[in-house]
Amino acid sequence: MKAEALKELLDSMSLAEKIGQLVQWNYAALAMTDAEVTGPETLRLSADAMKYFGSVLNFSSADEMIRLQKQYMSGGEHPVPLLFMMDVIHGYRTAFPIPLAQAGSFDPDLVRECAKAASAEAAAGGVHLTFTPMVDHVRDPRWGRVMESCGEDPYLSGIMGAAQVEGFRGKDLTDKNALAVCVKHYAGYGAPEGGRDYNQAELSEHVLREWYLPAYKACLDAGADMIMPSFNALNGIPSVANPWLMNQVLRDEWHFNGTVISDYNALDELITQGIAENRRHAAVLAMNCGCDIDMVSGCYASDLEKAVRDGLISEEQINTAAMRVLKVKNDLGLFEDPFHGASADPETVGNLVRQHRTLAEKAAVESAVLLKNNGVLPFAGSVKKVAVIGPFASSREIVGAWCCNCDTSETVTVAEGIRALLPDAEITAVSGCSARIGDKDGSMINEAVRAAENADCVVLCVGEEMECSGEGRSRASVTLPGMQAELVRRVTGANPVTAVVLFGGRPLDLTEIDAVSPALLEMWMPGTEGGTAVAKLLFGVAEPCGRLAMSFPKSVGQLPLFYARSNTGRPKQVPEDEYQPYCSNYMDCGNLPLYSFGHGLTYTEFRYDELRPEKTVLRAGEDLNVTVRLTNTGKRTGTEIVQLYINDKVSSVVTPVQKLAAFAKISLAPGESGEVRLTVSSERMRLWNFSGQSVIEPGEFEIFAGYADHPLLTRTFTVI
Ligand code: BGC
Repeated sequence: MKAEALKELLDSMSLAEKIGQLVQWNYAALAMTDAEVTGPETLRLSADAMKYFGSVLNFSSADEMIRLQKQYMSGGEHPVPLLFMMDVIHGYRTAFPIPLAQAGSFDPDLVRECAKAASAEAAAGGVHLTFTPMVDHVRDPRWGRVMESCGEDPYLSGIMGAAQVEGFRGKDLTDKNALAVCVKHYAGYGAPEGGRDYNQAELSEHVLREWYLPAYKACLDAGADMIMPSFNALNGIPSVANPWLMNQVLRDEWHFNGTVISDYNALDELITQGIAENRRHAAVLAMNCGCDIDMVSGCYASDLEKAVRDGLISEEQINTAAMRVLKVKNDLGLFEDPFHGASADPETVGNLVRQHRTLAEKAAVESAVLLKNNGVLPFAGSVKKVAVIGPFASSREIVGAWCCNCDTSETVTVAEGIRALLPDAEITAVSGCSARIGDKDGSMINEAVRAAENADCVVLCVGEEMECSGEGRSRASVTLPGMQAELVRRVTGANPVTAVVLFGGRPLDLTEIDAVSPALLEMWMPGTEGGTAVAKLLFGVAEPCGRLAMSFPKSVGQLPLFYARSNTGRPKQVPEDEYQPYCSNYMDCGNLPLYSFGHGLTYTEFRYDELRPEKTVLRAGEDLNVTVRLTNTGKRTGTEIVQLYINDKVSSVVTPVQKLAAFAKISLAPGESGEVRLTVSSERMRLWNFSGQSVIEPGEFEIFAGYADHPLLTRTFTVI
């Protein structure tokens, strides 16, 4: 539909119809009959108040979507199609690794491909818009939603978020495989005090501008259609009612003219948060902060029309908001095809799933991080007896918390993956104990020890259950739940040829098990082909190459923990395991993570030969090209993720001791040398100064190749 026709449509709509565009209901709450659509029971709104709505959340199949769309569109004078939304976070039917894992591939092309595949499946399933990417800046693994994020570096998050936007949207939203996207949760949701979900975040403007806001902006610049304010109070005001965040930064500074949708029931929760007196007040606060769609609270449905009649909200505000919603529908081509490629034929999605399994395996392989290897890995493919032990040995629940329409019966378990790879070996699978929080039952550990003693090698699969991370899944301690630490101690004691394979959605405190584990492979929640990927990685058919997108703490007491810390006036200068009085350190724990951001081993070794900046003096605003030369000095082909970090040595505000500035991937055969050329954008040299400006200050910068806290080659350059 042309822009003028859209405007004509808006002009022809009644106030109630326009407000209807701003109302979203949960599919489950819509009690459907052939004759009418009535409201969620909890709200008990009248059928009249429920008559108009613009979008629907969470439904289970294309069938449901097609039925409701047809019914709704045949009803009114203005048959405006409904917009169907869902959280397609890391797959729709095929599960790809969780976003935190995918970010660790340091491979935006791979992330884009996974998003594209998820998009095709979801579009066939009837989805029009996904609540992805989630690019909350995270520093605290107690918060269970770190699994949905792209980790602790805003530059990496921005790149991975933008790749997701591109993958889902494609080149043209009217394409039947494309989904519109909603970036979330703006802003500071990843910094809840105490790591407890929904809790308040207190962040200075400086910290917000430097760390918390850039990734959302990067996703909007990549074309995100919608943005979701976060639940939490940020500096005292819940985001959906925060004029600084929503009006000043988002609309005035960033010129975002797309749609804003509240988070689930967030308007009603303004009352509980003590910001709104009642539902009408909540509706007015949110509307005045440019919130276009009210997700399921019903505050707009019940109270907005009256607020307009009473002069609290202008009809112009409603027109602007309704037009934004109509525009997303029009961009998707819903006025021409309200089903947008939805297919009620289950085979359509089934066929896509078959096509996407290879990609799911590749993503699981490239997202895995080899944390430690004392030489036991890779295991020899000629082994006769393998013991696969642990609560995740035969589990299909390794797909992650947000895999919406996933069929876990399609997941390959670790035991199955190994059986398929080594058809002649004898594979024994035992659980040993459960992974449940608080489970004290260690009675099955003896059986696990016996299996380990009788095997040539042991694959010990431990971690956190799928339901342990994700929304509302905060933990006060981040160690292995239940009796798993004991299981690791006993099994590694029984057979030193053991690889500990970790599953879960957050960095864990591994200090206790690290000390006894010969090898540690972090698989995160790897998705549908998780077991295949584990088998291939452990037995050397695939090479590990992923890196950590989030630091692993030595102790929960270090949290929040992040690599891009600022220097203090008294930095610690003694070895990590020593204590230095009157310096910034702990008496009972080191300062550094157990495993740092950017860490990840391969099955080979790389020597960094040269770090060559193209210039040593730059004008402010110029990018810096840097060449890194390296050699594979090991015996196997391997892939290295070359990372560059910078440090602004003297500046008007305290800057981080290291900040990721560029990265690239290179594969080299044994003995082979190669070069990568990276560009450090001048954007990476900016800082947010005391006067509230983003500037590049002249002076010397240090640049190093390596990973966080592990510089291998260092140079300097000067900005004039
Ligand atoms: C979550 C959002 C999600 C929404 C819709 C909320 O509870 O915070 O991330 O998009 O539900 O499912």
